Order: sequence, then C-alpha cells, then structure tokens
Amino acid sequence: MAHVRDCEIITHREIAPDHRRMVLHAPEIAVEARAGQFCMLEVREGFCPFLRRPMSIERIFDDSVSILYKIVGQGTRLLAGLQTGSVLNVQGPLGNGFPIPAEEVRAILVGGGIGVAPLPGLAETLVARTGLAPEVVLAARTEAHLLCEQELSQMGCPVTLATDDGSAGFHGFADKCLRRLEPDADTVVYSCGPTVMMRAVHTVCVEAGARCYASLEAEMACGDGVCMGCVVETNTEHEFGKMARVCREGPVFDTRDIRWSAYDVR
Ligand SMILES: Cc1cc2nc3c(=O)[nH]c(=O)nc-3n(C[C@H](O)[C@H](O)[C@H](O)COP(=O)(O)OP(=O)(O)OC[C@H]3O[C@@H](n4cnc5c(N)ncnc54)[C@H](O)[C@@H]3O)c2cc1C
Ligand code: FES
Repeated sequence: MAHVRDCEIITHREIAPDHRRMVLHAPEIAVEARAGQFCMLEVREGFCPFLRRPMSIERIFDDSVSILYKIVGQGTRLLAGLQTGSVLNVQGPLGNGFPIPAEEVRAILVGGGIGVAPLPGLAETLVARTGLAPEVVLAARTEAHLLCEQELSQMGCPVTLATDDGSAGFHGFADKCLRRLEPDADTVVYSCGPTVMMRAVHTVCVEAGARCYASLEAEMACGDGVCMGCVVETNTEHEFGKMARVCREGPVFDTRDIRWSAYDVR
C-alpha cells in the first residue's frame, strides 16, 4: 500500500556534479518498500510544478529511504534547493520492484548513468536473500559520472566500470562490457539506465539465454495507475491489452515482454 507522508530530509549531499543523494525519514514507506520501487515527490507545495516527480528508492533502511537524483529541470532544481531538516511530501512505495530469485543464482546488475539509482538496494536484497553478492557493471559517459562504485564494492559486489570516453575502466558501452562477463542461461541480469542501453543489454541476454529485467522510465502524472500517461507497449496481455503502465505493472519488466521496436524513431 502506498502512503502519502510528510518526510523530513535527514541528509542531502552532492555526490557528483549535478547529482545528489537525499535520505528521507519515512518509517511507513521503509517498512513496506522493496528494491526497485519508487516514490512520487512533491518538490514544492502548490501548483508549480503541478506534478510530483518519480524517483527510485536507492536504499531501504529501518526508518528511512535514500534517493539518488540528477538535476535535469525545474523539479529536480527545486529538490536540490531543499535543506536538511526541511520536509517533503512523499507518496510511496509505488510500482512492482525487482523479482528476487529464491535460490542462489549468478546475478549481474547493469546501471547506466543515473540509472544506477535503484541498484544498491537491489544488491543489498540479493545478498540478504540469496547469500551471493551480484556482479555489477557501472557505465557512464565519463569517470566523473560513475556513481555508487564505493557503496556497491562495500557490499561485496565485484564492480566493472565502463565509460564511453575510456576515462575509467572498460572503454565502451555497458552491453559490450556485459558480453565480456559471459552471462549464460543460469544468469539473471537486471538493468536500469538509458533505453538504448537497456535494449542492448536485452539483446545480449537473448543471445546468451539469460533472464533479463529492466526498470523503465516514462513521464508520469499520477504515479499510481489512474491516468494511463505512462503506458508502454508489451508483447503479452496485461489489464489493458498489450500495454502496461510503467507505474503499476512496472517499472520493472521482463525485457522479453517489452516491445522494443515501439521505441524506434518513426
Ligand atoms: C519510475 C521512475 C523512477 C525514476 N527514478 C529516478 C531516480 O532515481 N533518479 C533520477 O534522477 N531520476 C529518476 N527518474 C527520472 C525523474 O523522474 C526525472 O528526471 C524528473 O522527473 C525530472 O523532473 P524535472 O522537473 O527536473 O525535469 P523536467 O523539467 O520535467 O524535464 C527535464 C528533462 O528531463 C526529461 N524527463 C522528465 N521526466 C522524465 C522521466 N520520467 N523520464 C525520463 N526523462 C524525463 C524531460 O523530457 C526533459 O528533457 C525516474 C523516473 C521514473 C519514471
Ligand atoms: S503515471 Fe498515471 S497511470 Fe502511470
């Protein structure tokens, strides 16, 4: 069940240029949240901006959750201006979250840019439930945009870095890096990042016979299944035919269910 609560900002720090981490005191949300779910944040009271902004839950603590965000526009700029100790209205947890295997299984997490945001919580859950730390591919444009390497390494995850410009780690894209890790039919891959990256990761997984899940983004209004503003095309039937709401049936989808060709530029 999603709650709507005023939550105090416990910490709020810059972690890279234009990227912040905010920890929110949110006991009811924390107790119900699962890795991969998200919250809708009211960045300012009133009508401007009118809509809440969706943000993944990065990590889940006893009575708080963290979010990791990139400043891209009006809403995130307002968010960045909020001081520790101030209060933010938060709706959550929302969405389905990542499926977690019951048994010990090789898992590889692939995060591109700010898409890494839900992966620390997922890594923690996998360690707790399966006893095995997942491997992680962290990809970004340049070294300065690589996020969460330290946190994921501290959880015991072997982390492989990839940058578009070669400034750190593997020189190239995340999917090439994933291919070098040789996933197979016994591997489960989780990805979050730019659509083009998740689609390329899906292709690698199809070729390898690996299971693959992607956390999709879509512009959202209600965040809770009502407005139909966030639908994506799928290959299987959902409540409204071959369409699914990113906020309700997602944001995490089996990548074989996503109609990737619908993203082609027409
Ligand atoms: C389920 C979900 C989880 C998300 N988790 C995170 C997260 O953990 N950290 C994070 O930084 N961002 C996350 N986002 C994206 C975030 O919601 C948008 O970046 C934010 O709403 C932009 O608000 P703004 O007012 O600053 O920008 P706007 O002024 O609204 O837009 C600025 C630019 O960002 C683009 N944009 C706006 N909303 C989205 C969106 N939903 N998806 C893709 N592009 C968008 C616009 O097209 C525009 O180019 C998530 C989105 C979804 C749907
Ligand atoms: S944002 Fe309204 S249905 Fe998904």
